[in-house]
Amino acid sequence: MTSSSMSCYANSSAASTSSRTNDSDTILMANKLSNIRLGGREERQQALDRLEILKTVGTGSYGRVLVVRDRDTKDYYALKLLSIKSVIVSQQTEHVKNEKDILSALRHPFIIRLYWTHHSDQFLYILLDYIPGGELFTYMRRRGTFDLKTSLFYICEIIVAFEYLHSLQIIYRDLKPENILLDGEGHVKLVDFGFAKKISNKTFTTCGTPEYLSPELIKTAGHNKCTDWWSLGILLFEMLTGVTPFNPDGKDNEIHGRILAGKITWPTNLINEVTKAFIKKLLTQNPDKRLGAGRNGSREVKDQPIFLSTRWDDVSARKLKPPIVPKLEHPGDTQCFDLYDEDWKSVAFASDTELAMFSDF
Ligand SMILES: Nc1ncnc2c1ncn2[C@@H]1O[C@H](COP(=O)(O)OP(=O)(O)O)[C@@H](O)[C@H]1O
Ligand SMILES: [Mg+2]
Repeated sequence: MTSSSMSCYANSSAASTSSRTNDSDTILMANKLSNIRLGGREERQQALDRLEILKTVGTGSYGRVLVVRDRDTKDYYALKLLSIKSVIVSQQTEHVKNEKDILSALRHPFIIRLYWTHHSDQFLYILLDYIPGGELFTYMRRRGTFDLKTSLFYICEIIVAFEYLHSLQIIYRDLKPENILLDGEGHVKLVDFGFAKKISNKTFTTCGTPEYLSPELIKTAGHNKCTDWWSLGILLFEMLTGVTPFNPDGKDNEIHGRILAGKITWPTNLINEVTKAFIKKLLTQNPDKRLGAGRNGSREVKDQPIFLSTRWDDVSARKLKPPIVPKLEHPGDTQCFDLYDEDWKSVAFASDTELAMFSDF
């Protein structure tokens, strides 16, 4: 099973700049989608004040995600909270700004929806839809392995999400079971766009989770959308076998070497020949020769024999029957998530200089 730790180390500067949607677009979108009425900073502060904080459902390296409820409308949301100081110290400022800019511009059934962002003198706030079904990671840990049909359901919805992102020149770069949530019906929602990036050609910053890193990311040779197709191959392997292909025995310090050597031990029985051929094409070392590298990359992926009976229009329309339906009693139910300490309030205050870095957040 994947370690939930994240690694991100800037080896050289990024090659391209990210696109910015302006705040008014975000607000327009938020007004359409939410009962929380938004305007400028003051309105967002009022909206924040109206939120009742219920419980932590996730933690990460720089903050946590809380389930909150609008006292007026009674709607539930997820509030991602990041300590400004931790973000700056761990050199994640650009990534967090990317997360805001990119999520504000996206609207897709399999991608988390952002309503607004805000900041205080301690925290950055990102208000998202609350996705109550929990992490795919939890279901994988519980079941050990998934059968092929179950695995392909998630793979298909992720392919459609990647197709959308790549069509906007956005690469995701952090596919792993912890970042794939299930909504109330069991459909996929990709969360965590901290490493997502709008690129025009290749980019060079190494980030991601060790087991899911592509060879070109490790080599800092420059990477593009092909790195996402690599991670899809890792995910399918992990769903079918319960382990990742380059770290089946938990030897963390050998992962990079093994990925670069490209040697996979294929388990007997768990992966049939058609699936193996598909995974091999995704786990091709040379990104230019990898499945999905062509101009119409997602089409290449969708046209593989493994998807012979897949009706892609049905996938996009959320018409495939989810293999796991989360057990939920109400939309704010948190039983699908682990329990966390609620020790987040005593975070250091940011200085004026630090705050200035996030004045438009
Ligand atoms: N919108 C959401 N609804 C419910 N849970 C969420 C939501 N967003 C994130 N989470 C939970 O919080 C965890 C951490 O959030 P994430 O955005 O991945 O932050 P990090 O960058 O710290 O990994 C996720 O793995 C998930 O369990
Ligand atoms: Mg995450």
